[in-house]
Amino acid sequence: MYEPLKGIDLNKAEPIILGIETSCDETAAAVIRGRKILSDEIASSADIQALYGGVVPEIASRAHTDAVAEVVQRAIKNAGITHADIDAVAVTYGAGLLGALLVGVSFAKAFAYALNKPLIAVNHIRGHLAAAYLDCQTLQPPFVTLLASGGHTAVLYTKTQSEFEILGATLDDAAGEAFDKVARVLGLKYPGGPNIERCAKEGTACVEMPKMLKGGGGYNFSYSGLKTAVINYCHTKEQKGEEYSKADVAASFQHAAVDVLVEKTVAAALEKGVTFVTAGGGVAANTYLRESLKAACDKNGLQLVLPEKRYCTDNAAMIASEGLVQYRLGNFADMTLNAKASIPLAATLETVQSRRANSEGV
Ligand code: KG4
Ligand code: ZN
Repeated sequence: MYEPLKGIDLNKAEPIILGIETSCDETAAAVIRGRKILSDEIASSADIQALYGGVVPEIASRAHTDAVAEVVQRAIKNAGITHADIDAVAVTYGAGLLGALLVGVSFAKAFAYALNKPLIAVNHIRGHLAAAYLDCQTLQPPFVTLLASGGHTAVLYTKTQSEFEILGATLDDAAGEAFDKVARVLGLKYPGGPNIERCAKEGTACVEMPKMLKGGGGYNFSYSGLKTAVINYCHTKEQKGEEYSKADVAASFQHAAVDVLVEKTVAAALEKGVTFVTAGGGVAANTYLRESLKAACDKNGLQLVLPEKRYCTDNAAMIASEGLVQYRLGNFADMTLNAKASIPLAATLETVQSRRANSEGV
């Protein structure tokens, strides 16, 4: 009989949560005790995907199937715990590649069922937001977050652990998507973000770029014009047979893409009157963004909580961290849990009715 919630203590001092993440091309598993990371394992199919210039869903699914059991066992072993020590299994159920998500969800369901452990459904984006909790043990809402991943770019206000407000978001492409597309234009390999960053180090930001809704558009962003400007610049140079520096283009693009993120995040934090600013998502691993955001926060008396680079890009520790938030709220999934390929940002941030509020002592 699967009865994992019998006698569960939602106030347990430091629950041990196993997190599993398979939404894209990384098969990841991690174990946390309270907010402390005990282990964090990743097997990536990025090298194979690079041969195709992007993520091929079928290849990702197969790679997850091959890796998931081993990665989870490694995470448990390296955490120095036994199966019995696990208080809950948290898994990314969406958004992401459907086939890839299904591997993690199916594995987590079977694992939780076999061990009679509670199952927690984690939204990938909520995971990115929860990464900051691992970096700062005492961080509590309210805070303002810059979310910049491959699919989303937004400035969010976290009022409580289950109440969010979208202060602004991209009107077209996400910042990460712009990094990836511009990398392709410059002939740089997948994944685009880190390769643009590497290339930009050799250049200077001397090529003129569009203003990017800087100083306007509220807290919204627009990246499609920036991508088009880079394409036009390169094509014009090529048509005229003129040489140009890819490194200068990469540096100029990086500055334009990042400066607006920093400006609007800080402005939002000041308007909301919060003390803490956090960031999450793959683009938050960008060194220029990290340094600029730190400098801007320091200048404005804001405290920046920036997850380590590896906890900005996809990982399972952040899934376990959001799992802990849901554990405290008493939000558990059952064996009907299914994967979801797309979840709009507003739905991602909807307040989940806490089971704790309705049935104390589940
Ligand atoms: O959060 P993430 O790992 O996956 C999603 O949930 O989308 O973000 C991936 C995105 C990609 O677009 C990638 O190019 C970008 O984050 N990214 C970076 C860097 N590392 C990853 N962008 C800029 N600089 C980086 N160092
Ligand atoms: Zn992600």
